[in-house]
Amino acid sequence: MSGRRPIISANWKANQGDAADRQRVMEFAAAVDAPGGVEVTVHPPYTALAELSSSADGVSLGAQDCSRFEDGAHTGEVTATMLQTFGVEYVILGHSERRLAGEDPTLIAEKGVRAWRAGLNVILCCGESAAERDRGQTEEVIAAQIGEAVGCAPPSGDRLVIAYEPVWAIGSGVAASPHEAQETCLFVRGVLADCGLDLEADDVRVQYGGSVNPTNVAGFAACPDIDGVLVGGASLTPATFIPLVDAFEAPVLR
Ligand code: PGA
Repeated sequence: MSGRRPIISANWKANQGDAADRQRVMEFAAAVDAPGGVEVTVHPPYTALAELSSSADGVSLGAQDCSRFEDGAHTGEVTATMLQTFGVEYVILGHSERRLAGEDPTLIAEKGVRAWRAGLNVILCCGESAAERDRGQTEEVIAAQIGEAVGCAPPSGDRLVIAYEPVWAIGSGVAASPHEAQETCLFVRGVLADCGLDLEADDVRVQYGGSVNPTNVAGFAACPDIDGVLVGGASLTPATFIPLVDAFEAPVLR
């Protein structure tokens, strides 16, 4: 047994926006109430944070992003401190959809520093594109993405979760194989060992993300270095999300 508490994260992206979707938020919150051996984080759009924080006892509240700024005249920004005082505990940083929207390593590192200083836990995403994979650059890309984000201000390891999300697997319906994901998550642990964290790399939780669903989740849950999943599409309904929680909740020998 690894001793690491599995963490299952629902990344709702820009979904769950209208009234019917908000109703599902309530059902969802009730359904995942008080999980036992696993931690569940839910990352709604900013506009649904309030609703979820007042209705979901069993989940940790997460954001999908935060500002690089501490405070001040920065129209449109939502700072890490605002999130923290609102009850948010986790923030996803470096998601490939944000990298594709123009976020560079410096910006991601700055956001990380703000988040850690505000007391938030960071789920730092890393992962190679299809082209990088074809060129055999997966490990090089991942090492750079992790190193750049934690290099300038290593957080204490228990404030950091790494999500390995191959870009080609996100939203494509084609997940990495459990073997592939396990090997890369093990590699991530090796990278973390060189990052100057004040906690053993073996204690940092590493998630897999990319087209996880109720059918393929068991394979990931059985891998010794995969401590949970970061989920987009399958996190939008309780029917597809609860089985993912259950898979990691089951007392598998890890
Ligand atoms: P997906 O998204 O589960 O829909 O592939 C994962 C993610 O983007 O975090």
